[in-house]
Amino acid sequence: MIFETHAHYDDEAFSEDRDSLLVSMPQNGIGKIVNVGASISSCKTTIELMDKYAYVYGALGVHPSETAEFTEENFAWLREQCSHKKCVAVGEIGLDYYWPEPDRETQKKWFIKQLNLARELKLPMVIHSRDAAQDTMDIMKEQHAEEIGGVIHCFSYTKETAAVFLNMGFYIGVGGVITFKNAKKLKEAVECIPMDRIVVETDSPYLAPVPNRGKRNDSLHLPYIIKEIADIKGLTPAEVEKITWNNAEKLYCF
Ligand code: NI
Repeated sequence: MIFETHAHYDDEAFSEDRDSLLVSMPQNGIGKIVNVGASISSCKTTIELMDKYAYVYGALGVHPSETAEFTEENFAWLREQCSHKKCVAVGEIGLDYYWPEPDRETQKKWFIKQLNLARELKLPMVIHSRDAAQDTMDIMKEQHAEEIGGVIHCFSYTKETAAVFLNMGFYIGVGGVITFKNAKKLKEAVECIPMDRIVVETDSPYLAPVPNRGKRNDSLHLPYIIKEIADIKGLTPAEVEKITWNNAEKLYCF
């Protein structure tokens, strides 16, 4: 079975067929799914999905690009929801400098607050970091993120940056980008990342792997990602499936 460590089935891209798609997952080899909240409203839908499907778990948090909506009041709401028995992580949280808004100070403030929420609740973190490697590493070092742990989701940086996160004990989430022809830097990084620190994810509905690049993504595409990792690592897809399943269980403390 494959462990999908990061998907967004709350997204409107699934409004037509969300239930039929999710129902079909176990019979198609997807054994567990972590649906990741990115805003207060998507956290609410994530909770509905984990209440409805035995094999769906949730990460609850607010994505850096959505932090403008954060208030002390909904931060208190988030803290309460994180005690749900199927909430396995705080996330996705972090920094995204690809978009100019919200401003960097706002993003940093809520990254640090949610990081410390994870510490307080003894939950791992799902970290989103895009075009913000240095500030992400600086904050994680300053805040002693190594005491909390978690995953760098949809890792997109160099092997040197991977080494810094690995030294802090983090897992690295590998998604569809690994199948892209121009993903040389990422393939190099995956070559260097020890197999016991890799987990697989789709980030559905985004980032569909080749041969579905550009289309809506879903967890049934994970075998393409697993095949690519297997080729890079000189393993069989079955071995990668098994190892990444065990890694994900450790990451999310099952
Ligand atoms: Ni995501």
